[in-house]
Amino acid sequence: MNNETILKQLNWRYAVKKMDSSKKISATDWNTLSESLRLAPSSFGLQPWKFLVVQNPAIRKQLFEVSWKQSQVEECSHYVVIATRTDMKESDIQKFIDQTAKVRGIPAESLDGYKNMMIGDLVKGPRNQVIKWWAQRQAYIAMGFLMETAALLSIDTCPLEGLDPAEYDRILKLENTGYATVAAVACGYRHPEDKYQSAKKVRFDSKDVIEIIS
Ligand SMILES: Cc1cc2nc3c(=O)[nH]c(=O)nc-3n(C[C@H](O)[C@H](O)[C@H](O)COP(=O)(O)O)c2cc1C
Repeated sequence: MNNETILKQLNWRYAVKKMDSSKKISATDWNTLSESLRLAPSSFGLQPWKFLVVQNPAIRKQLFEVSWKQSQVEECSHYVVIATRTDMKESDIQKFIDQTAKVRGIPAESLDGYKNMMIGDLVKGPRNQVIKWWAQRQAYIAMGFLMETAALLSIDTCPLEGLDPAEYDRILKLENTGYATVAAVACGYRHPEDKYQSAKKVRFDSKDVIEIIS
């Protein structure tokens, strides 16, 4: 994919307000989108998130009611709710250390220094008080990866923060699980009648937002 194509697709993307519910993302494309979520970077690599792909129409209807009645929630092909950790315990760090040791074929003990540094920072340090915010910021990286990957595949998305996270937690049974809803992304295909697709993109000039310090 060349530079021109990437910019073309990024200009093609917009936050879709009305989706064509008859069009579904193929299994191959969905696999790429879901991998883009899984492959997103995170602080220390701890992946303090879960991506709930809500395909049940009855649950979608309930979520629609608490998402400012935004129609994409029900119309989209795949509805991804991003939930992030509300706390970090030593067992979370250990789980990641064990996975690292397994994937890289090294003894877990060789990662003790790294493990203790993370525990000192996120479990026993002052940052433990702000885990919710720490984790939420990372949700937006995954969201960006998903939306950009979709755009490159000519798949539409709409990010949604216009929702009631507490109601989502209740409906999706996230209460007391250590995860809480942050935002969602509706993925699918724009409806030909969505008038926003012809609206010009509103962005500040490059000189206003990009500053080269040389
Ligand atoms: C974190 C975040 C939350 C958003 N929430 C909503 C939303 O709930 N509903 C919606 O229609 N658009 C939502 N948007 C879309 C923005 O309004 C949109 O990205 C912005 O106006 C720029 O337009 P464009 O994405 O079409 O280029 C959200 C965007 C972001 C990044």
